[in-house]
Amino acid sequence: MSEFLNQARRRAALCRHMKGGVAILPTAPERLRNRDSDYLYRFDSYFYHLTGFPEPEAVMVLIAGSQPKSVLFCRDKNVERELWEGFRFGPAAARERFGFDEAHSYARMDEVIPGLLADQPTLHYMPGADAAWDARIMSWLNQVRAQSRAGICAPSQIQDLRPVLDEMRLIKDKTEIATMRRAAAISDAAHRRAMQATRPGMHEYGIEAELLYEFRRQGAQYPAYWPIVAGGANACVLHYRDNNAPMRDGELLLVDAGCELDGYASDITRTWPIGGRFSGPQRAIYELVLAAQTAAIAKVSPGNHWNEPHDAAVETLARGFIDLGLCRGSLAEVLEKEDYKRFYMHRTGHWLGLDVHDVGEYKTAGAWRDLKPGMVLTVEPGCYIRPDDAVPREYWNIGVRIEDDVLVTTNGCEVLTQATPKTVADIEALTGSA
Ligand code: GLY
Ligand code: MN
Ligand code: MN
Repeated sequence: MSEFLNQARRRAALCRHMKGGVAILPTAPERLRNRDSDYLYRFDSYFYHLTGFPEPEAVMVLIAGSQPKSVLFCRDKNVERELWEGFRFGPAAARERFGFDEAHSYARMDEVIPGLLADQPTLHYMPGADAAWDARIMSWLNQVRAQSRAGICAPSQIQDLRPVLDEMRLIKDKTEIATMRRAAAISDAAHRRAMQATRPGMHEYGIEAELLYEFRRQGAQYPAYWPIVAGGANACVLHYRDNNAPMRDGELLLVDAGCELDGYASDITRTWPIGGRFSGPQRAIYELVLAAQTAAIAKVSPGNHWNEPHDAAVETLARGFIDLGLCRGSLAEVLEKEDYKRFYMHRTGHWLGLDVHDVGEYKTAGAWRDLKPGMVLTVEPGCYIRPDDAVPREYWNIGVRIEDDVLVTTNGCEVLTQATPKTVADIEALTGSA
């Protein structure tokens, strides 16, 4: 019995959705970083969701209908290449281990796949995902079309696989949630380690190193995205990546970092004072963002729609901006004119899963979709104050974001990253304590 039962179940579910036809889904290619050095390999998320198969040069083919069949094409065993690059399953072992009905050599696709497409009504794949695959799949289709005088029909319809697969990926099953919990726990440990290690005079990359060390030490294969380690004014650059500035006493450090474990992402942001104590203005902004996050998380519940957490965060922030003298006018005016966007210009979260910005529509039929148990999202309000004569100087260059990963449950939600300190007291107690 294959240990990849969940993947087999997902393939069966996809076959039911397909209502006939053939699906073709390649994994991601290896990519050159420079000359003959590759980037660290990462499989395609859709392919991995349906197969669990981690090697490059692999394609899944599913034949739906009354007798569904799953076929894997993968690299052959190769003594020479395995000596240089390591183990390959090869088709026979891969079929057995990953629970496919058939497996063939990747080198035989041109020979086998046109036969699998013959007399099928529909070809399901992901048009436009990769130009080289578009061309190759069309050439297979043309090979079948060329056999029309022999009475063989080619699929007359092409159907995009994404809508069905995106919906399947949006609701996480028990094993996915267990993996995401472990990913969250590793990222939690990394943030604690980073807080403890923080000292004025270090560079941002010193904190980046602490994060990456803890991810890898605990077995996470990659960061889910490159960590943002932003001291002082750098925190107001939303996608800051340089991570190379010295960290100064009296400034805040914004750290947005999460690991990827067994394919699944985590995504945590915390903001702490480099010297270990928040100043009055920093604390005022921090407490406001924390209140906005608390209000947003309270709205994560089945039946509430996607945008309710965002609306709650925006309202809390807008009220606070007025109280602090950052925005002028009534709450209704600040919301109506979107004046709060001077300090909070991004949305409050995104789906989280195999991809950090995971798949899944946010609206259906033009309306924000309802939250359902098994969805996982981030809740990440922030406040970013650039120097501006219309703003009291004491707030200049303060950037704060607080981000957690939240699972929708049957009666509310569970914050998977709850353990990561975020009250002022907890953060001040931990920062610099290593
Ligand atoms: N780290 C990417 C994000 O928070 O969306
Ligand atoms: Mn995020
Ligand atoms: Mn993030």
